[in-house]
Amino acid sequence: MVIKQGDLFQTTVSSYGSNGEGVAHVGEYTVFVPFTVEGEVVEVRAVYVKKNICYAQLTRVLKPSPKRTAAQCQYYGKCGGCSLQHMSYDEQLKVKKNIVLSNLRKIAGVCLDDAEIVASPEIYGYRNKISLPVGGKRGDVRIGMYRSDSHDIVRCDRCFITGKWCEDLIAIVKRFLDSEGVIPYNQRTFKGEIRHVVARYVDDQLLLTLVFNGETNRNFAPLCDMLKSRFKKWGLFVNVNTLKNNVITSDVTHHIAGITSILSKDVNGIVFRLQPDSFFQVNTQCKDLLYARAKNMIREEGTEVLIDCFSGIGLLTCAMCSPNYQTYAVEIVKQASEDADKMKELNGIVNLTNICGDVTEKLPEIMNMVRGKKTALLVDPPRKGLGEKICRTVCDNLPDRIVYISCDNATLARDLVWLLPHYTLKEIRLFDLFPHTRHIEVLVCLEKAQN
Ligand SMILES: C[S@@+](CC[C@H](N)C(=O)[O-])C[C@H]1O[C@@H](n2cnc3c(N)ncnc32)[C@H](O)[C@@H]1O
Repeated sequence: MVIKQGDLFQTTVSSYGSNGEGVAHVGEYTVFVPFTVEGEVVEVRAVYVKKNICYAQLTRVLKPSPKRTAAQCQYYGKCGGCSLQHMSYDEQLKVKKNIVLSNLRKIAGVCLDDAEIVASPEIYGYRNKISLPVGGKRGDVRIGMYRSDSHDIVRCDRCFITGKWCEDLIAIVKRFLDSEGVIPYNQRTFKGEIRHVVARYVDDQLLLTLVFNGETNRNFAPLCDMLKSRFKKWGLFVNVNTLKNNVITSDVTHHIAGITSILSKDVNGIVFRLQPDSFFQVNTQCKDLLYARAKNMIREEGTEVLIDCFSGIGLLTCAMCSPNYQTYAVEIVKQASEDADKMKELNGIVNLTNICGDVTEKLPEIMNMVRGKKTALLVDPPRKGLGEKICRTVCDNLPDRIVYISCDNATLARDLVWLLPHYTLKEIRLFDLFPHTRHIEVLVCLEKAQN
């Protein structure tokens, strides 16, 4: 059988691919079909065929799986945010676990039969952050999400994984932009004013950043009035981003009105400050479970030094540090590192040094300083992982224990190829910080191999 682009055919989904899409086998073709569930008989249309690989679009489910569920969100399948909302939550967890086990096996040669996966306490309304592009036209802006693999903006008035605060905020911002005649940014011509709406809502406190394509002297008073009537505590910022690429914010942010940062307390009673440009885990409750287990992996006993790389505002650092050992925390974003210093001060933490800088440069310096001491290393890098240079620093210095938190298990698996000749994998645990999406957080504990 030969499959050509546009062909309509029936097939049975037999497994899942690395993005959680269904996989079927037709003759010698491997067919990838998003939005399907294992075991389903489906009708699909081939949209792209190369050699024996076919990417197909689901046209009809002929025999649905009992694991199929009706997505709650009206934009599901259109906006590129979620990709697993069509299956039960149990099935989502199974899919994600298989993706991680498969990447570990294929990339790192680590063969595990199983791994524990921790479900998110909330699977809707869990996200505390949004970044929404703005398009459309003057007087009728479109605030939404990018369609999958595209720069088309799908208008979204609400987002189920984010919650009511986001729905209300979108309505307020749209009313303001439309009534003031603010011109949406055009990604082809690079012209227009407003590019993105970025917001974070933690502990009933909102930080709203409007990303403009240049400095603006717009009157924000009507927006402030609307925010005041809906949110108890809110802060408004303008970020100036003239870059002609898809980076959402630049490092130029002006405070316009309201609060300048979020001040809150975590489950352990740690008081923290959060500014708009600082990183904060998007799923507050599931983050607490992740942090608790990570803290458990850094055994205090015998530890003389803890190095926390990619430490953000330092909430996890604070949970982990101890008067019994010296802790160093390295973070590249200035605002986040300032927040970390503020947290140290607010909580009276001792034996902690926050360093603002690049881990690639700072880690060798710290390792040099603490040579000979029993050292635990915590790393929580962005999606690109540690990479060869940082892994080489680690292997040259061999800290006694490594706790690695990863939001991209493919780059984690790649890094393990460098680390595992020197380390034993003691524990791996998955945390579903991102229900309904294909993403998953992985926590790994490595111990220096005894030679
Ligand atoms: C996934 S976040 C983890 C933050 C923190 N561990 C937490 O749980 O909130 C990664 C952090 O690494 C920082 N970062 C990215 N690249 C860096 C680098 N080369 N050196 C230092 N920090 C970096 C980011 O700004 C971000 O705060």
